[in-house]
Amino acid sequence: MARYSRITGTGSYLPPDRITNDQLAARLAECGVETSDAWIFARTGIRARHFAAPDVASSDLASEAARRALDAAGLMPSSIDLIIVATSTPDMIFPSVACIVQDKLGIHGCAAFDLQAVCSGFVYALTVADAMIKSGSASRALVIGAEVFSRILDFSDRTTCVLFGDGAGAVVLEASDKPGLLASDLHADGKHVGILCVPGHVSGGGVLGRALLTMDGKAVFKLAVSVLESSARTVLQKAELSEADIDWLIPHQANIRIMESTARKLNVPLDKLVVTVDEHGNTSAASIPLALDVAVRGGKVRLGDTVLLEGVGGGFTWGAILLDF
Ligand code: ACO
Repeated sequence: MARYSRITGTGSYLPPDRITNDQLAARLAECGVETSDAWIFARTGIRARHFAAPDVASSDLASEAARRALDAAGLMPSSIDLIIVATSTPDMIFPSVACIVQDKLGIHGCAAFDLQAVCSGFVYALTVADAMIKSGSASRALVIGAEVFSRILDFSDRTTCVLFGDGAGAVVLEASDKPGLLASDLHADGKHVGILCVPGHVSGGGVLGRALLTMDGKAVFKLAVSVLESSARTVLQKAELSEADIDWLIPHQANIRIMESTARKLNVPLDKLVVTVDEHGNTSAASIPLALDVAVRGGKVRLGDTVLLEGVGGGFTWGAILLDF
């Protein structure tokens, strides 16, 4: 019998500290940086984001999101045999956030590793978990996106610090005889490394170079809009479905203008576009599983719906997944 993978539970977690645009603008003004709710909302669709407390790490957010996904799937942590965490803001250089999450959940012995593809990380991680399940090397996976991007923001740079937030989202992906993950499509083009990066690195016990996020916003915007359309068309073609079959479009939540432009190019009505960027900001690898969980718990995404997930981010990386949810 053919072996496939299906999502059987979703979960998410946001740190409690919710910062509105007005609150962020007031904090930045104290350091002489000028911005406003009107500018941020008009250019990005963001109204608020959550920031983790200084002693909270990606693994804390990831563990809570994972517990909620396990509850939704009705599973004990001990039944998990694979953990993949997509993150660009790990607790430590090593070991991986996945190993720390494994310990926090009280699981022992299963495969656990991190995957780094920045804002496309969750789409990459879900594709890898699907392939491992199909090959028989795993049966029940936790796939998590978790970030504390607030740690790598330059709060003197108003063009980037207003865009990002912290959070985590998780899914349980289980082996099934019915296809859940219908098609996936992954890409990267390293020639664009410099348009979105944190160039600093650790050497000899110190940090060499700038360990804060740097972005050419216009270049990212242009690339994102073009690659998201082509990747969506590729997965639809692979699954032999059409634009009209999409029940829900869940793109990486970076900017409402990029998301609406993608929806329009794919002829997806805006009421089928799941939007959480207004409340979460851009949570990088966490944004797609966070938005999926919000849509599931809010009664939008239901069993059997056709859901298109789309990621795009630093690398440059991008990709799409089509789900029979
Ligand atoms: N508050 C007030 N004014 C600002 C702010 C701010 N936070 N940031 C920039 N400005 C000013 C600029 O200084 C500039 O002023 P000037 O005309 O006097 O020089 C003016 O606003 C316009 O700035 P632009 O950079 O041209 O603004 P733009 O319309 O390009 O919007 C933005 C910037 C929102 C970053 C946009 O380029 C964008 O969304 N890019 C996509 C990048 C993205 O979403 N990245 C997220 C991470 S990548 C990923 O996840 C895929």
